[in-house]
Amino acid sequence: MRLTIIGTGYVGLVAAVCLAKLGHIVTAVDREHVIQDLRVHKLTIWEPDLQEMLETCRRDGRLSFDIDIAHASRDADALMIAVGTPIGVNGQTDLSQIDDVIAQLKQVDGVCPPLIIMKSTVPVGTCDELEANLLAAGLQTEVVFNPEFLRQGSAINDFMNPDRIVFGCRSHLAKAALHQLYKGINAPIQVCDRRSAELIKYASNAFLAMKISFANMIADVCEGYDADNRQVMQGVGADRRIGPHFLRDGIGYGGSCFSKDLQSLLTSGKAIGRSLPLLEATAQINEERIPQLLEKLISLWGNPRGKRLGVLGISFKPNTNDVRDAPFLTLLRLCHLYGIEVQTFDPVVQHTSIDGVIQMDTAYEVATDADAIIIMTEWPQFAELDWVLMARLMHQPILLDGRNVLSDEVISRLMLVENVIYIPVGRPMERAKLTLSVNL
Ligand SMILES: NC(=O)c1ccc[n+]([C@@H]2O[C@H](COP(=O)([O-])OP(=O)(O)OC[C@H]3O[C@@H](n4cnc5c(N)ncnc54)[C@H](O)[C@@H]3O)[C@@H](O)[C@H]2O)c1
Repeated sequence: MRLTIIGTGYVGLVAAVCLAKLGHIVTAVDREHVIQDLRVHKLTIWEPDLQEMLETCRRDGRLSFDIDIAHASRDADALMIAVGTPIGVNGQTDLSQIDDVIAQLKQVDGVCPPLIIMKSTVPVGTCDELEANLLAAGLQTEVVFNPEFLRQGSAINDFMNPDRIVFGCRSHLAKAALHQLYKGINAPIQVCDRRSAELIKYASNAFLAMKISFANMIADVCEGYDADNRQVMQGVGADRRIGPHFLRDGIGYGGSCFSKDLQSLLTSGKAIGRSLPLLEATAQINEERIPQLLEKLISLWGNPRGKRLGVLGISFKPNTNDVRDAPFLTLLRLCHLYGIEVQTFDPVVQHTSIDGVIQMDTAYEVATDADAIIIMTEWPQFAELDWVLMARLMHQPILLDGRNVLSDEVISRLMLVENVIYIPVGRPMERAKLTLSVNL
């Protein structure tokens, strides 16, 4: 198929590269400065394997870039929309990036392909409206909704090996085209109406966010009752009706999707007079995570003003450079309020223009003279650091393991030999120390 993809962000670029690899001829369109970078192989997003695959597809002539939607769409069999859908005013989803694409398609006669595949996450009813709008303008096209479930950090693998592919469409022709598009990917395919498909995406993200908030809620109970949430969640997740994924406690979820999609679903609920209290609680538990964790540090410090906090990890999860809605940003805002100095290290997010942050080149520089360290992102390399050296470099050896990444062996050594105050999540500090002394 000849496919035009609008938007080369985390979803669009990954889709472009993967669909080109599957044998389609793909033209990816974005704004001029983004395409200029892509043409010289400069990627603004970081994903494992993305750079190599992109270069191969371009070399093989299956992937090219453009800045003109009309020009890129002229001979396309289908157009895929993968632009941003952030939260706008009053909690409504801001669809202006999509509107802009549609306006450009309407401007030039004969460029609108017969099929528009919506990949961007959009509120229920959006595809119906869009199609009606295009038909009213004399453009004969079907809009299908084909939600994307990839996770940043493993996006290529997720796109090529999804748990399911959902086609929200109304005609056999569109269904057949989608089957052709995904030929080569071995996954169950669910075909349904567009509105249900739109809701599948929101409900999936809401459920995943709910699992994380659930684990965090039980973590608080564990801390109060001298239990270990790692063990509790292992037992809970072993039940096949529940499953082990997304039950890790910690600093809460972040990223560009969960918060905004939850908000969008809440707004959709309000529009029909429903309050969706489960989702409200999910969001509230998440919002309380960082203030709660910071409170633990402040209770040890007494006066926080002028303290130096070393932060390991800026991105909202490992294997991505995305800082959108990262819990780190909430931490930073609170630190500024309390007058706490922040020095950071992240293996991929470096030299950003985030205000009020001193960015270091190594984790050891972050530890130097710090009054505490907090692990915000579970980059695997953080578990491998020389933690004894880290502790000795610190001004005050306090370590808040926001992701529970350190092994019991390292924790034992730090607490019992180096006198580090180790603050885990989901089990009381003293319990960690007592259980661990057995390991020494
Ligand atoms: N990021 C994820 O993990 C993920 C997963 C599943 C679904 N989604 C959904 O996919 C959509 C895209 O998400 P993303 O994270 O890739 O966004 P993004 O912000 O990383 O990328 C969007 C891209 O679209 C481009 N763009 C916007 N308007 C344009 C226009 N008129 N012409 C050309 N290019 C334009 C932007 O420049 C940007 O590069 C959103 O609706 C999101 O909710 C995201």
